[in-house]
Amino acid sequence: MKDLATLCLKADLLHFLSETEMEFIPNGMLWIENGNVKKMGTAEFVSKELASDVPIVDYTGKLILPGFIDGHVHAVQTQAIASYGKQLLDWLESYTFPLEQKFEDPQFARSAIRFFLNQLLKNGTTSAAIFPSRHAETSAILFEEASELNMRILAGKTAMDRNAPQALCDETGSTYQENSLLINTYHQKNRLSYLITPRFAITSTPEQLSALGKIKKEYPAMAMQTHISENKDEVSYTKKLFPKAKNYLDVYDREGLLGKGTLLAHGIYLEEEEWSRIAETQTSLVHCPTSNLFLGSGLFNIQKCRDYAIPLALGSDVGGGISFSMLKTAAEAYKVAALQKMKFTARDAFYLLTLGGAKALNIDQFVGNFETGKEADFVIIDPNASELMQARLALAKDIDELLFVLMILGDERNIEAVYLQGEKKSVNNHR
Ligand code: GUN
Ligand code: ZN
Repeated sequence: MKDLATLCLKADLLHFLSETEMEFIPNGMLWIENGNVKKMGTAEFVSKELASDVPIVDYTGKLILPGFIDGHVHAVQTQAIASYGKQLLDWLESYTFPLEQKFEDPQFARSAIRFFLNQLLKNGTTSAAIFPSRHAETSAILFEEASELNMRILAGKTAMDRNAPQALCDETGSTYQENSLLINTYHQKNRLSYLITPRFAITSTPEQLSALGKIKKEYPAMAMQTHISENKDEVSYTKKLFPKAKNYLDVYDREGLLGKGTLLAHGIYLEEEEWSRIAETQTSLVHCPTSNLFLGSGLFNIQKCRDYAIPLALGSDVGGGISFSMLKTAAEAYKVAALQKMKFTARDAFYLLTLGGAKALNIDQFVGNFETGKEADFVIIDPNASELMQARLALAKDIDELLFVLMILGDERNIEAVYLQGEKKSVNNHR
């Protein structure tokens, strides 16, 4: 394996040691050795030990944060973004399923996946839990392209076998084998992790969910990602399709698919019993505010999530979501909380975009902050990237106010550079 980057960056550093401990070091230094964090702190503290041959990159006046984490996004829906006037089930049928069928063509798939990964990086997103299409080849392409970029991603073939066009349904009995093959080839190779990925209850037969449950038994540490309780019609249709399930969550639970690192997107209409079972199994939720507002799905109850101490990530959910920017996603989370008279501070937001998201995805042993030994994925942020932000920030009293303005007004213009394991990525031009 080739040597990874060794360098030292000068800038204002900000990261979280825990949900309640934010560390902000103005004019600090971040020393990276062979792609991992060696040391971070004040310039005085780091430069004492810094070898004289380590190149120094000067970002004075800029902010360095750990790379953002997108807890839920579709690699195959970029061109479905901003499609007019439907709620979830109609939106899937009218826009999403037709687009996802195009991924049958591997050439189309590769070019769309490259475009997608570039969108993540240019928005400062360095890790994500990703839904490809149901085609095994699309997953293979996604893993190969992410690996080529050296991105830490989690993904799995989107399993469907009913209530979708025939071309998007797995052939009977093929789900287990196709998943197993992908797992053998890609799981835990380089920075890749496989996730068991039933799209949602409606598009899987009980047999398909059992096949996925069998995979979970073979790989107990492997997590699942799926959708749950996003839309009222979806919930009632699910109950009709699975009359023996105790509730929506039980459709996944009875196959043993819950647990640490498992990602349930949305969770707007969860019942009390479901909330407590999610907490009990240490399953994570993913709040996707731009999607929930755009599709008119409803308002996620972030306070309940806190009360139950359920691990949480934020998700862009493009193409139901309307931006790849995790800053814009956080801004919408603020508004969703505000509509319910709930608190959502900039610290809450940036914790979720970094360490909190990493914990929810169960990748915090690798990324999420600048602890020694962690993989050095980070973003260089220019808070003054727009005239408006510059004018507003002239009045900012402290770092909390700066972060709040960044979260409410920020977008991809603020992302000056993105680094993966200490290597700067070129994101301005689509390859
Ligand atoms: N539920 C099932 N599939 C999808 C999807 O592609 N997007 C969203 N937002 N919800 C879903
Ligand atoms: Zn989704």
